[in-house]
Amino acid sequence: MNANYSATVPSNIAFIKYWGKRPNAPQWPANDSLSMTLNQLATRTSARRYQGDDHSLRLGDRMYTRNDKQLGKTFVHLDRLALRFGFTQKLQITSTNSFPMGAGIASSASGLAALTLASLMAWTDSKNWDDLERHGFDRTMLADLSRLGSGSACRSLFGGFVQWEAGPDPDSQRYASLFSDEHWALRDTVVLFSSEQKAVGSTAAHELAWSSPLFIPRLSGLPERMELVKQAVADREIQALGLWLEVEALEMHAVIMTASQPVHYLNQEALQFLADLRQARQQGEIHAYFTIDAGPNIHVIHEAGEHERLKLWLQRRMAADRLLHDSVGAGPRLDFQSE
Ligand code: DP6
Repeated sequence: MNANYSATVPSNIAFIKYWGKRPNAPQWPANDSLSMTLNQLATRTSARRYQGDDHSLRLGDRMYTRNDKQLGKTFVHLDRLALRFGFTQKLQITSTNSFPMGAGIASSASGLAALTLASLMAWTDSKNWDDLERHGFDRTMLADLSRLGSGSACRSLFGGFVQWEAGPDPDSQRYASLFSDEHWALRDTVVLFSSEQKAVGSTAAHELAWSSPLFIPRLSGLPERMELVKQAVADREIQALGLWLEVEALEMHAVIMTASQPVHYLNQEALQFLADLRQARQQGEIHAYFTIDAGPNIHVIHEAGEHERLKLWLQRRMAADRLLHDSVGAGPRLDFQSE
């Protein structure tokens, strides 16, 4: 029997950003972060056991090898998991994203979490969450392992509004869904400003955070901001949330732009868009707020009731194929097909 084990994992958008890592520990973030798990922007990864000399990897319609720089992280992660748990079986991995590759939306979060889930399912012959747990892989363990592949991936293991706590030591990092996807029908419309591969990936840019004079002041203000953002989500207060979302995203970009090797992720058009969005909001045309990851694209966060009005406003400015529409989601789904 050659069964196929699959995980569909949504991307997530951070409200309080994970930016900067503490030194001397693997994937220990400088601060706690909070995100909204998305629904449709997702990676679906399938794994099957096979007799080959090395793992094989297909992403979309292309095959990749371990020498491929672009997806090297994937093979490193498979090797890490195999070594840690003593799995010797090679896997055939097939992965597809529901969003355009290289669109600059967090494919590493959904991708590395989906890879972790599908590969562990295949290695342990687990058909569902209960099977995984019986093999010692509960949700926290799976988040810990996904995080080693890419930090933001750990939050995608949970649905709704998710907090990742850095904890007092690197082994005490914690994850929790503070509110389920049913708590608040928030939406994220992603506006694509560039589909080019980022000149500096987020892993390299994280390293530079400590060199910015703005980074330590940022860290000292974050605990208070986290509480305010959590309260805004608890109370479903879009205005309170939105104003902090924008401060948070711009502060992270200010850190990135003032590091010893400054990186500018936003182009002229994206910067103009931020100003236009704020102006339209002030004039009462739309009620939406932006956040931005370490990339060129802008996430417009709004309540479900605002979606049609915002969509019309956006479509007057740009082609519909530059917009991706999503909402808060319930987290990963696992499935299994026997052959
Ligand atoms: C800007 O998770 O991509 O999206 O751990 O090095 O893989 P690595 O970094 P990554 O960092 C993404 C950071 C961010 C903000 C966030 O998602 O919290």
